[in-house]
Amino acid sequence: MNELTKNFPQGFLWGGATAANQFEGGYKEGGKGLSTADVITAGTHTTPRRITPVLEQGMNYPSHEAIDFYHHYKEDIQLFAEMGFKVFRMSIAWSRIFPNGDDAQPNEEGLRFYDRVFAELKKHNIEPLVTISHYEAPFRLAQQYNGWSDRRVVDFYVNYCDVIFNRYKDVVKYWLTFNEINILTMPFGSFMAGAILPEGSAEFGNTAGDNEQLRYQALHHQFIASARAVKLGHSINKDFKIGCMIAYMCSYPLTCSPEDVTLAQQKDNLTNFLCSDVQVRGAYPGFAKRYFKEKGIELVIEEGDDEILREGRVDFYSCSYYSSTCVSADPDREKVGGNLSMGLKNPYLEASAWEWQIDPKGLRWSLNNIYNRYEIPLMVVENGLGAVDTVEADGSINDDYRIDYLRRHIAEMKEAVADGVELIGYTPWGCIDLVSAGTGEMKKRYGFIYVDKDNDGQGTLARSRKKSFSWYKKVIASNGEVLE
Ligand code: BG6
Repeated sequence: MNELTKNFPQGFLWGGATAANQFEGGYKEGGKGLSTADVITAGTHTTPRRITPVLEQGMNYPSHEAIDFYHHYKEDIQLFAEMGFKVFRMSIAWSRIFPNGDDAQPNEEGLRFYDRVFAELKKHNIEPLVTISHYEAPFRLAQQYNGWSDRRVVDFYVNYCDVIFNRYKDVVKYWLTFNEINILTMPFGSFMAGAILPEGSAEFGNTAGDNEQLRYQALHHQFIASARAVKLGHSINKDFKIGCMIAYMCSYPLTCSPEDVTLAQQKDNLTNFLCSDVQVRGAYPGFAKRYFKEKGIELVIEEGDDEILREGRVDFYSCSYYSSTCVSADPDREKVGGNLSMGLKNPYLEASAWEWQIDPKGLRWSLNNIYNRYEIPLMVVENGLGAVDTVEADGSINDDYRIDYLRRHIAEMKEAVADGVELIGYTPWGCIDLVSAGTGEMKKRYGFIYVDKDNDGQGTLARSRKKSFSWYKKVIASNGEVLE
């Protein structure tokens, strides 16, 4: 029998991922407007974050300073280059370009900031991968239009795309239209992804005021916006590669009972595949139409929308993958956490301190599952372990647990490549410590680079290399051959 060689393709895009609202800071600098992320307080694993339409005195809003990439971008990019990054995933803060969202003219100072960032990346031969909207929108769009529930926001977004596509057409090739667009299929995503304003101050995860009709209408508007952006982008630069980005939530049936197996498939369809079917195939799948009918959801779909969706299909698929959960028809089974999706405990898996079950094999399973459906290039643009790190007396940070997590996931990606999956890149999440989206904490760290800042917002912001830094450098240098 011939021995199978398992390796990553030449030119594989190794790198790391971030999002403006979680690492950029400078929330009022350079003419930036307030974003939806700027009105969310810090929380903890046990205390939910709050959305406060009016900023409260003395309250910690972690996006305001975050880890201040705004002033540290040269140093940070230098560190990414030292690790050998080929690609760097970042997002543009929409409210830095259009402070109110509906402004007639873009903010030149905001555009100049990203000119400088892209120039710095180019200097180090790092390809930017830009998320156009990562869990934020100009706050005025939430206040004035109730976010994405209003179709006019589509035009504002497309106008924003027009500006950044034209400005950066020679320096950015890879784009993602919306981060984790599918979280709008869940109540949790209503404000974070949909900029739909809750009544008064609201706690994260409190689903009491959820309006499913509105959420799916907002999602439809995002599909239209994404499709129009894809078409527009290709007309500006035919070499653009524009992708969708899905929070891939791997769900196993808890038992082999046909009820559990069917439920797991339905969950996979509704939470994972509904959005990518629209964005990759260009039309709503049958199971979505059935769901809308059964739930009494009546979408306002304008004439011409079907064509827009068909013409705005993405070039590649990208997703985040952190963990897996189980699904059962039995309502009394034990649950586990995860900020986006609660699911059932899997007795075969260990969980992180934040209760996210660790499942490297689930990544191979998921990549096969996705690729078998679409057969287009895939990228894993988020993956990683949120953990508490300890700085030793000599300043070292020995994050062997993180190395172990990443090593096992990369090994399974390699298996997926050997299975025939066309995987083109990997950008682990929070390559530099940043603010947690779910809890607003700094303590939940993902980085190869440590940032001196604590949960209360105190610290020098100094950067230092963790043990995983030199490990990942070797992984990249060997194109994934050396994982020890
Ligand atoms: C993804 C988001 O859902 O998970 C990121 O795209 C987020 O923005 C990441 O930070 C990890 O979640 P958390 O809650 O640990 O920050």
